[in-house]
Amino acid sequence: MVNDETELPEHVRRNRVLWDANAPEYVGPGERAWARNEPTWGIWGVPDAELCVFPEDLAGKDAIELGCGTAYISAWLARRGARVVGIDNSVVQLATARRLQREHGLELTLIHGNAERVPYPDASFDLAISEYGACLWADPHRWVPEAARIVRPGGALIFLVNSALLTLCMPEQDDLAASDRLLRPAFGMYRIEWLGDLGVEFHLSHGDWIRLLRRSGFEIEDLIEVQAPEAGTTRYPFVTSQWAHQWPSEEIWKARRRADQDTRRGQLVFAGPQCRRPAPCSA
Ligand SMILES: C[S@@+](CC[C@H](N)C(=O)[O-])C[C@H]1O[C@@H](n2cnc3c(N)ncnc32)[C@H](O)[C@@H]1O
Repeated sequence: MVNDETELPEHVRRNRVLWDANAPEYVGPGERAWARNEPTWGIWGVPDAELCVFPEDLAGKDAIELGCGTAYISAWLARRGARVVGIDNSVVQLATARRLQREHGLELTLIHGNAERVPYPDASFDLAISEYGACLWADPHRWVPEAARIVRPGGALIFLVNSALLTLCMPEQDDLAASDRLLRPAFGMYRIEWLGDLGVEFHLSHGDWIRLLRRSGFEIEDLIEVQAPEAGTTRYPFVTSQWAHQWPSEEIWKARRRADQDTRRGQLVFAGPQCRRPAPCSA
């Protein structure tokens, strides 16, 4: 495992310092998320039953959470029968995850490392998942090809990030909410450092995500634009529910690792007709 600080890319070293410092703020939310059995997604806590993010039948599947933080998604996956690995760049976040794992009596494999270089052989997992984790804080040109390497043909990659639209509308200052003005160019969007913030984030346009995913060996199966409830609440100051009820503040990408041959037997199935998410033009 590459954990020698001097060998880590600059953005990974900076994000490690940031997340070791941020970790105490994530203890309470992590504890509450571990205590729930029903998954919810993103900063608005939209139930999985509405978004249909989790694949069906996780029992016996190998899953990895890339940038697991306090590892509540890993916990939800493990409770559905998956064998779960969580990798995170912050030893302090992992300390919370380890304590919660003990308290809840769940077995996860938690490793300290950079999701751009996962210490597992090729084709080790049926599912790689990330919610505001490595998918936001690691370089997509490194972590996406790495996810393609470790996910089995027919396996799934699911990740949730700030929407491209929100990223264009977010003010530089940390505590100000997005308005309906575009504040930065869409073309060339990639590495973003917010004013006065130590961290380094990565945001791509939809076209750049599509090309990177396809080039890395994934086929895109869905892009879920998350709508906030009208009176939704969040502890994050960068967007209001009025904004996020009108425009997507978050997006969830679902992709499948291309199979060289037809290996559909035993692969994860995305939620099907029982999904309650309304069709775009259900008249
Ligand atoms: C916002 S938390 C995501 C966890 C959780 N889903 C949440 O929303 O609280 C971001 C996590 O990504 C981790 N992270 C950032 N860069 C990473 C990298 N290159 N490899 C692995 N984890 C990384 C951070 O250490 C942090 O714990």
